[in-house]
Amino acid sequence: MINLPEILRIKTMQMSDIEVVLKIQTENNLSFWAFDDYVRQISEFNSVNIVAALNNETVGFIISSLIISTTLLFKNELEILNFSVRKDFQNSGIGTALIKNLVVKSIANCVESIWLEVRENNKKAQSFYENHGFTRAYQRKNYYRNPVEDAVIMRLILDSI
Ligand SMILES: CC(C)(COP(=O)(O)OP(=O)(O)OC[C@H]1O[C@@H](n2cnc3c(N)ncnc32)[C@H](O)[C@@H]1OP(=O)(O)O)[C@@H](O)C(=O)NCCC(=O)NCCS
Repeated sequence: MINLPEILRIKTMQMSDIEVVLKIQTENNLSFWAFDDYVRQISEFNSVNIVAALNNETVGFIISSLIISTTLLFKNELEILNFSVRKDFQNSGIGTALIKNLVVKSIANCVESIWLEVRENNKKAQSFYENHGFTRAYQRKNYYRNPVEDAVIMRLILDSI
């Protein structure tokens, strides 16, 4: 078993990570983001993009965007846009390390809720998110293409953890 605390690092995503991130995205059949989409994402001032590196090898990533509140009445929110771990390293705690790091960064950015959408049939990811405190907020009919499928919108309220 991998001794994660010894060799796993969570780092900010760099341009040099994009090629590997694309491979991880493809092998997991995630919504398609092109190289240039990641370049744009990395350069957005309000993006939070992290990678998990095992012995300096990128094995997982989360890209997300901060939605910054313009009024004092509401706090900021964070939306996870893509999240994936290399197939041969799944179920080793890497996804957990990534999500925990994102939660710490979110709290530092005065985020009240983290939002994400997941395919209705992706029960594994839904169960992972539920085990990390996310709950189903609502469902978006026929949101995905290839194949057509509903999106489940999930939310983690940071005040509740
Ligand atoms: C969802 C995903 C990101 C989770 O990443 P992961 O690295 O497998 O996550 P973890 O290893 O931390 O946790 C997965 C399971 O392994 C178990 N686990 C964690 N560490 C473990 C260890 N050392 N030994 C055995 N099992 C372990 C956890 O209990 C967890 O169970 P749960 O899912 O019921 O909570 C990953 O499955 C993935 O990339 N899926 C494909 C892409 C995808 O669906 N992305 C989400 C789109 S919204």
